[in-house]
Amino acid sequence: MNNEEHLTKPRIAMAGAGKRFGKLQVFRDVEFAVGEREVLAIIGPSGCGKTTLLRCIDGLIPLTEGEITMEGSPITDPREGVAMVFQHFGLFPWKTVFDNIAYGLKLAGASRAQIEEKVPDYVKLVGLSGFEHYYPYQISGGMQQRCGLARALAVEPRVLLMDEPFGAVDAQTREILQFEMLRIWEARPTTMVFVTHAIDEAVLMGDRVLVLKGRPSTVHEIVEVDLPRPRDRGTLLLPRFAELREHVWSTLMKEAREAEFQV
Ligand SMILES: Nc1ncnc2c1ncn2[C@@H]1O[C@H](COP(=O)(O)OP(=O)(O)OP(=O)(O)O)[C@@H](O)[C@H]1O
Ligand SMILES: [Mg+2]
Repeated sequence: MNNEEHLTKPRIAMAGAGKRFGKLQVFRDVEFAVGEREVLAIIGPSGCGKTTLLRCIDGLIPLTEGEITMEGSPITDPREGVAMVFQHFGLFPWKTVFDNIAYGLKLAGASRAQIEEKVPDYVKLVGLSGFEHYYPYQISGGMQQRCGLARALAVEPRVLLMDEPFGAVDAQTREILQFEMLRIWEARPTTMVFVTHAIDEAVLMGDRVLVLKGRPSTVHEIVEVDLPRPRDRGTLLLPRFAELREHVWSTLMKEAREAEFQV
């Protein structure tokens, strides 16, 4: 999608967006647009407001300034077609893997027959076959993460929001999940906004990387990731990948290093 298109037909757009909790201004003047089939990665230091930003896009909490729109209409409440994968899985401990994945479908009014038909597809897609009747405490962290992903994907969202979707798993599982997610996205491209701490992950998965920084935080830069798709392990070996990673790294670290020298 070219620049002009995602400015005229954004699926999600934020303009002049700010959020305050009492006296704490978390972010301000946030502005971006994400098109259909576009992946926006948001990166920034801990506490800069990434989760808060996603919760605003999900309609869970209101902005204090500015506006968020989905296909042109303002987002004020959680809405159909938008699904979220939470930072700490957000699974229901008293529900099985199957029932956790079925949850969004149930909320959307799917019949038992539809649920019986659909859920197994998503169980398979994320590699949880055989564990449908386990409870979250009986499966590993990586499996819980995949369960959260399947729950969000099962409603076939038009907008998928992910908050550090692979943040709570070990390094190997993280790599596996990143490539699985890329494969899933290539099979069913949708609008995706995801938050990460990992520069590699942001560059590998994003069409653009939004760097959020400062106190209150603002959009420091939006980096265009001009790497070809489909992306896979080979992408990590491209010289362009290394250049982009370096660029995002220096953008993120510049102030941190300056602050260090002042101490
Ligand atoms: N409900 C709330 N009430 C008051 N302050 C809040 C609330 N939620 C978040 N904050 C504050 O907003 C700031 C940003 O928090 P947020 O969770 O969005 O950061 P983050 O960028 O997601 O951090 P991390 O990378 O550690 O997950 C923090 O200072 C936090 O204390
Ligand atoms: Mg967070």
